[in-house]
Amino acid sequence: MERALVRECIERVQQKRPTMDEAERLVSVEEYRDPARFELEMARLFRPAMNVVGHTGEIENAGDFVTRELHGAPALLVRQDDGSVKAFLNVCRHRGATVELRQSGHCKRFVCPYHAWTYSRDGALASVRFPEGFPTLDIADTKLVELPCREIAGLLFVGGEQSASALPDGTDALAAELTALGLAEPHVALRTTTREWKSNWKLIVDGGLEAYHFRIAHKDTIAGFFPDNVSLYALLGDHLRTVLPRKSVVELEGQPEEEWRLRKHTHLVYNVAPNATLLVQAGHFELIRMTPLSVDTTRIDLTTLVPTSSLEPHLEKATAFFEANHAFSVKTLDEDFSLGEQIQRGLHTNANEHFRFARYEGALGAWHDRVDHKLG
Ligand code: FES
Ligand SMILES: [Fe+2]
Repeated sequence: MERALVRECIERVQQKRPTMDEAERLVSVEEYRDPARFELEMARLFRPAMNVVGHTGEIENAGDFVTRELHGAPALLVRQDDGSVKAFLNVCRHRGATVELRQSGHCKRFVCPYHAWTYSRDGALASVRFPEGFPTLDIADTKLVELPCREIAGLLFVGGEQSASALPDGTDALAAELTALGLAEPHVALRTTTREWKSNWKLIVDGGLEAYHFRIAHKDTIAGFFPDNVSLYALLGDHLRTVLPRKSVVELEGQPEEEWRLRKHTHLVYNVAPNATLLVQAGHFELIRMTPLSVDTTRIDLTTLVPTSSLEPHLEKATAFFEANHAFSVKTLDEDFSLGEQIQRGLHTNANEHFRFARYEGALGAWHDRVDHKLG
């Protein structure tokens, strides 16, 4: 896969004109502003499916936990003594308080902050104060409600409802590519930046699917590394891979093919359905998790994932390097997401009935088709 993609990148950069992959496409602005459409997306795309909630390195050892908000469902993920991961609704079985309030940590037992019902790592109710007051409570049979949870190629997937165990189509193919890129190796979640944008979630996705804007919108950050308006894409079931070659990719011509490294010479991006985007950088990954909050509000969590092996030898120096990388990624993505806010502000003016996707922006149309297909 890698060599074929490098070859295609070199060809496209040398041809100096964008490739006309598809027909021009119009998309109705209603898709971004209609509350009924938003509810349908939540009901069909996000809530019934497993969503990406982080990297397995965030809960490396038995007892490590993270808490996450999954489209209205508070979730608690805990590494088990046997090395597996379990996810639970972070809701006490007594009177519903949030059992674990911290975002991450390590513990043997979880103690509810309301009346101190205590749960072990596997979700079992371990102790109740003054249990004689609950003659009908079967302690041995009472557990935190378990949620579907999987570790795939280093990513943690969780369903926000007990029935939400469906993995997006194409996840096996995606997992094979991400594993080949090293994502399943141990990683440290170095830093997460969270922001809320007044933008429909699809505007956030659209911003990452074409190279037409690079030269203009990213002129102060990354534009200089890229030729103007060159990109290629492929659907992997519900997931999507886009490749934006850097100018430097042409240097690989004439070098031995077994030394070609796609990630050094491209902006390689995976849209992981339904809620995440993974930016593959030369020596690390940026994981963007997206939580649609309303038709015009989206929360973004950007996490820099660094291979443990890259941090260990010179911890201080490496940490400073990757911290600077994180700050640069935040700055670049702010350029994209603030455009999403601008677009959202103008949606209600009726200046446009539809937006236009050009013939060289094929990934946009392909991705929208996929979403439409899932919505039935
Ligand atoms: S609500 Fe958790 S112990 Fe009472
Ligand atoms: Fe961008």
